[in-house]
Amino acid sequence: MCGITDRITRKIAKENGADVTWSEMVSSEGLIRQTGENGKSLSLAEKFSEEEKPYWVQIFGNNPDVMARAAEIVEEKIKPSGIDINLGCPVPKAKKAGYGAVQIADIPSVVKIVKAIKKKITLPLSLKTRLGLREPEEILAFAPRLEKAGLDQLVVHARTLTGMFSAEPDWQVVKKLKEKISIPIVYNGGINSPEKALFYRQKTGLDDLMIGRGAIGRPWLFAEIKHFLKTGEKLSVPLVRKKEIIIKQARMMEESKGSLVSFRGQFLAYLKELRAPRKLRVEASQIRSLAEVKGALDKI
Ligand SMILES: Cc1cc2nc3c(=O)[nH]c(=O)nc-3n(C[C@H](O)[C@H](O)[C@H](O)COP(=O)(O)O)c2cc1C
Repeated sequence: MCGITDRITRKIAKENGADVTWSEMVSSEGLIRQTGENGKSLSLAEKFSEEEKPYWVQIFGNNPDVMARAAEIVEEKIKPSGIDINLGCPVPKAKKAGYGAVQIADIPSVVKIVKAIKKKITLPLSLKTRLGLREPEEILAFAPRLEKAGLDQLVVHARTLTGMFSAEPDWQVVKKLKEKISIPIVYNGGINSPEKALFYRQKTGLDDLMIGRGAIGRPWLFAEIKHFLKTGEKLSVPLVRKKEIIIKQARMMEESKGSLVSFRGQFLAYLKELRAPRKLRVEASQIRSLAEVKGALDKI
């Protein structure tokens, strides 16, 4: 997730039960312009350690040649477990530039992108998409064309572009999709509790679940879900353990970035999750240092 899943956040997710982590979406244009050590796009994707694997790098763009070259760079320089194409981003900037979910309107061009990338890489190629622009069933027509083009995996965010982030995820269409394609499908959308994970797994019959917003401020959700799916019982993560996780992440962030300004959003999500009083949340929105994080947590 853009602005969220940096190397440290992914490490925390992994330590708390995530089986696979994904990079933030990385610009294919940026990747081919800045292949040097200091290239921003490359560094966004590159900062990961072997212990993080399986780790997928997601790229975005609408030019088949540029996407293929970017994928080649990712394979050569980063060596992740796989590469993913973003066909889900709904933000106005993406719409205007013609990448992300709007690309669903031009599947022939996406087919070209898939084919061009497949020619250049040996890693598995995935694509993360919404169900359609407006109609959830659009995916039933376009997914087989992507499979035929050589795609190895499809990640489905079970909402349309117009559904943005709030529409009820349409698991019925994802279930139908299983009859249309034979490549692995990963289910995404609306999993923010162990019960929801069980619900979508049972309804879709898919074992591979991807979690987005539910894990922001709650990385222990991965462990909670695994425990619930295995035993049917709720895992109770003690408050003291939750505080240790937050402090560990803040410490790593401070060491790596020199400040905690970019951690503020996630810290607020943590405080919300821990039901901290509003006054504390307001104060915490200005945190800069680990000492301040610890001070705020001591008040809970
Ligand atoms: C802040 C934010 C950033 C995101 N960035 C990306 C991204 O870079 N690539 C991507 O495929 N999806 C991105 N997403 C979408 C999520 O991965 C996910 O598909 C969506 O939130 C639905 O899943 P959820 O209901 O579990 O959150 C982002 C979502 C949010 C809220």
